[in-house]
Amino acid sequence: MKKILIFGGSGLVGSKFIDLFKNIFDINKFVSYEIKSPLAAEVDILNKDVIAKTIQEFNPDTVINFAAYTQVEEAEAQKGNKEGMCYQINAMGAKNVALSCKEFDKKLIHISTEYVFDGTKENSPYSEEDKPNPVNWYGQTKLFGEQFVLESGCPAVIVRICMPFSAFYELKKDVARFFLEELKAGRKIKAIEDQRVTPTNVSDIANALQVMLESETTGLYHVSSTDSVTPLEFAKNIAEEFNLNYSLISPVDFDEYNEKKKAKLLKFSWLNPTKFEREFGEGILHTVEEGLALFKKEIDAESANRL
Ligand SMILES: NC(=O)c1ccc[n+]([C@@H]2O[C@H](COP(=O)([O-])OP(=O)(O)OC[C@H]3O[C@@H](n4cnc5c(N)ncnc54)[C@H](OP(=O)(O)O)[C@@H]3O)[C@@H](O)[C@H]2O)c1
Repeated sequence: MKKILIFGGSGLVGSKFIDLFKNIFDINKFVSYEIKSPLAAEVDILNKDVIAKTIQEFNPDTVINFAAYTQVEEAEAQKGNKEGMCYQINAMGAKNVALSCKEFDKKLIHISTEYVFDGTKENSPYSEEDKPNPVNWYGQTKLFGEQFVLESGCPAVIVRICMPFSAFYELKKDVARFFLEELKAGRKIKAIEDQRVTPTNVSDIANALQVMLESETTGLYHVSSTDSVTPLEFAKNIAEEFNLNYSLISPVDFDEYNEKKKAKLLKFSWLNPTKFEREFGEGILHTVEEGLALFKKEIDAESANRL
């Protein structure tokens, strides 16, 4: 039985990981997991002593840090403010977790984002070798977090993910569910026609994390869909997958959309997962279309369960 301590397990991405792996026995790999996932109210990652006590008592094999301040727009009002919650959680929280992992010699999987980049790389998606250059405060604080994790010296895997979408998550809407719900309700939507993104089904992210926590690997990995789309194509793919009305979808220009945002978006908001696939194999991550087919299957299965 492997023990995994999770911070941020109530969030969009962490909750899916827990759904898939809590107390399951993976027949293929002969492993099962015991997961402890305290809420922020129980273990605040700003509190070093509580983190250390939790790690010492539970004695996990691996710690996964999904915890973050993810309100990208709101973060912009805190720009440069190291006392603000965005810096505190994304940078100092990550540092606290990493230093505790170093102290107790625990492997850390730390989740990060494509927002560490500036979104100007137009010919191919960002790889692990590309130089970060964040354009908004959220991205900047996530980059500080990555740097603190590396500097801590703990055995760490930093996993950058991009546009996670989930069949279910009540607390926060992702782009896929937003498009789906609007189209189902017969409302018109606008989608950017000239931005490139690698939207990723959170089930793929969860499976990728499982593979990484079973390996001895450390370092930086990009985990995303294996091809890219524009948000306009993504909306149309959703309409097609769910047999909904295409004519409700109209294009909007990236610059026009971005102009209204407090936090600048990335025009090329995409990741390249080749390193992950080279080391862990193909078939864990999928194309956007395959990710959406799974999204539909997951929604259909849940609807059937409710009957
Ligand atoms: N969602 C995206 O579009 C996206 C894209 C790229 C990368 N990411 C990255 O993926 C990771 C997970 O994101 P998400 O969308 O799942 O986040 P989320 O839904 O916003 O959830 C944030 C989580 O962080 C926890 N948290 C916040 N402050 C905390 C604190 N002081 N101490 C302990 N826990 C705290 C929250 O716990 P409570 O619920 O208990 O408050 C919650 O579980 C983050 O690292 C994020 O940067 C997300």
